[in-house]
Amino acid sequence: MKQYSDACDQNRDPILAIIGDVFRTAGHVLEIGSGTGQHAVYFARHLAHLQWQTSDLPSSHASIRAWIDEAGLDNVLPPLTLDVAASGWPADRLFAGVFSANTTHIMSWPMVESMFAGIGRVLQDGASLCLYGPFNYDSASMDPSIMATPTPVRATNASTPGCRTAIPPAAYAISRISTHWRMSAA
Ligand SMILES: C[S@@+](CC[C@H](N)C(=O)[O-])C[C@H]1O[C@@H](n2cnc3c(N)ncnc32)[C@H](O)[C@@H]1O
Repeated sequence: MKQYSDACDQNRDPILAIIGDVFRTAGHVLEIGSGTGQHAVYFARHLAHLQWQTSDLPSSHASIRAWIDEAGLDNVLPPLTLDVAASGWPADRLFAGVFSANTTHIMSWPMVESMFAGIGRVLQDGASLCLYGPFNYDSASMDPSIMATPTPVRATNASTPGCRTAIPPAAYAISRISTHWRMSAA
């Protein structure tokens, strides 16, 4: 059954403003936790140079399929079953990008670690990861207004520890933030 999320309608354009730049090279983008499927069809419609691969737990697939069927786009792909904590990561191809919105903050830390390890295995060289959602920095919650800012994480080399994050100005970005953290290679 087709589900609807008001939040997706509210955050899709600020996110699009970022990912349109981050994912400017043609290729396949894997979305983790596609949810209702709204983001997938919206971003695929506006970023026609991308093949948007949806994924989620099976419980979300009916809605994702409903949005895809209604949109009639040829660059958004039916959902893969992907549980970030399990072993079902795509093994048949690498992705030019990975996108995920509002997923990591609902996951346990071990699940987040599994997610990043999996992402490291499916990104091609020079690919980008773009995460949207609320984040804590040094155990401090970010200002709620900043939490609304999309956060692209550009992996300089997916096989090398070390990721650089930088938040470029978003449509309604409050402030510019850059930070560094180290990520263990998978
Ligand atoms: C808060 S919803 C966000 C959905 C959508 N990305 C959005 O922004 O509206 C969290 C999503 O993460 C998915 N999810 C939860 N646990 C997961 C897991 N272990 N692996 C993959 N997806 C998961 C849920 O099924 C759900 O679709």
